[in-house]
Amino acid sequence: MAKMRAMVVPKRGAPFEAEERDIPVPGPEEMRLRVLACGVCHSDVVTVLGLLPSVQYPRVPGHEVIGVVDAIGEGVHGWSVGARAGVGWFGGSCGYCRRCRRDAAFACENVNSQTGVTRDGGYATHMIAHVSAVAHVPDDLDPVESAPLLCAGVTTFNALRNTGAGPGDIVAVHGVGGLGHLGLQYAARQGFRTVAVNRGRDKEALARSLGASDYIDSADEDPAKALTAMGGAKAILATVTDGKAMQAISGGLGPDGVMMVIGAVGPLTVDSSGLLGKRASVKGWYSGVARDSEDTLNFSQRNKVASMNEIYPLEKAQEAYDRMMSGKARFRVVLRMDA
Ligand SMILES: NC(=O)c1ccc[n+]([C@@H]2O[C@H](COP(=O)([O-])OP(=O)(O)OC[C@H]3O[C@@H](n4cnc5c(N)ncnc54)[C@H](OP(=O)(O)O)[C@@H]3O)[C@@H](O)[C@H]2O)c1
Ligand SMILES: [Zn+2]
Repeated sequence: MAKMRAMVVPKRGAPFEAEERDIPVPGPEEMRLRVLACGVCHSDVVTVLGLLPSVQYPRVPGHEVIGVVDAIGEGVHGWSVGARAGVGWFGGSCGYCRRCRRDAAFACENVNSQTGVTRDGGYATHMIAHVSAVAHVPDDLDPVESAPLLCAGVTTFNALRNTGAGPGDIVAVHGVGGLGHLGLQYAARQGFRTVAVNRGRDKEALARSLGASDYIDSADEDPAKALTAMGGAKAILATVTDGKAMQAISGGLGPDGVMMVIGAVGPLTVDSSGLLGKRASVKGWYSGVARDSEDTLNFSQRNKVASMNEIYPLEKAQEAYDRMMSGKARFRVVLRMDA
């Protein structure tokens, strides 16, 4: 019987292990993808360190998947074998349970709805996905360049288009990492005055080349004061992985401004008087559903938004993950299955 290869987290905190498995057969409303590329996201730490109660082991992480439809289960319509397909963090929804009725993207009670957390993800040559989780991917997008669009891309694209900011408004992208380097491209192409904020100056030239018209070095000046001096941000896309850094920028919101909290930083303190005086808000944002991924992919194709990546073969998933965690990758780490 043909086998697939996967890089598995055997238990909480344990290193990755290579496994050979039987190639699974898709059940009703499921499809099997032959994975071409899978991005390594900071949120994979959830699976590796067991940061959500929903993680079960052994588990294959990976929620930035580009593949080709390889087999189709019963009850799936509108897809054919050979089609290019993508899967993000959203692992699917049944559409009728209590949670789906409130918010189909979050935590369906009937479909394991977190890719790489409650169901196996894309650190593998093959994976099974619920049909509602699968996005159509334009054929001419490069699989490696576009894999990170399924999480880093859709999260920043979707957060930005839901801030209420309009063309010309000041939008700060806080953090120039995996998410931030895409957030800058989307913000500039969505017509905002795009301000990149990061500690140090080593990423300034690159941030400007990605579309930032202004740059704030948060190690050198108070980012809240710098944004206020510009007139205040209509939106801050907070992608940093540090709570104190995120806290330090929230005062830079302008009237009716919104800080989209994207980085998972645990407890966050904000000055309430700073918010109420400006009717400003702090709002959490998760990535999006398959339709949001399709919007992201199509926008990226039309507007030439691409991820800059370091590529590793599947078997080097541990090295790839460590590299991502080191914060030194420029900017996304991607596993390419044929590398
Ligand atoms: N909401 C969602 O749906 C969603 C989706 C995907 C990811 N995430 C989360 O988003 C966050 C970013 O992910 P990523 O993959 O972009 O991570 P990343 O590539 O590691 O980038 C992290 C960024 O945070 C900055 N940073 C780290 N520590 C800092 C500190 N102490 N002070 C100031 N800046 C600091 C880094 O700055 P330097 O360049 O100076 O190192 C870098 O710009 C993670 O928490 C991830 O779990 C959330
Ligand atoms: Zn992610």
